[in-house]
Amino acid sequence: ANVLVLQGPNLNLLGSREPGLYGSVTLDDIVSMLDEHAAQLNEDNDELELSLEHFQSNSEAELIERIHNAANDGIVFALFNPAAFTHTSVALRDALLGAALPFIEIHISNVHAREPFRRHSYFSDIASGVISGLGAQGYILALDAAYHWLGRRQG
Ligand code: DQA
Repeated sequence: ANVLVLQGPNLNLLGSREPGLYGSVTLDDIVSMLDEHAAQLNEDNDELELSLEHFQSNSEAELIERIHNAANDGIVFALFNPAAFTHTSVALRDALLGAALPFIEIHISNVHAREPFRRHSYFSDIASGVISGLGAQGYILALDAAYHWLGRRQG
């Protein structure tokens, strides 16, 4: 199963960006952690083969296009950190609904412990689940959850 790891604006700056909030882990570190974890899941189980695709963009349009192309690329699930677009983007929400792409919403920081404007998400009510505040580990937990979700769906 192909899973898209979709990263929104400013996440390319992870590692140096507000380390008190986001930690010192870089986006490349997260990519490696996830690839290693997917390889481990594939090794430990033979009912489902995961293949990850990683995409980060600072552009709303590029993220929308990537979601539109997901089905053509055989993508069946997404792990999505919409970053600041979480709180602003009806267009990205509509893209996910239009593509009927199931996803888990991920935030590195706890969005509920920050400015009030971060408490509203355009994605949470249409997500399979939401992980917020668990740092980079949240991506690993989301991948485990996606693996189980996809396994159940396959029957
Ligand atoms: C974020 C939280 C958002 O509010 C913020 O705009 C981000 C990152 C997070 O991962 O904690 O850019 O999605």
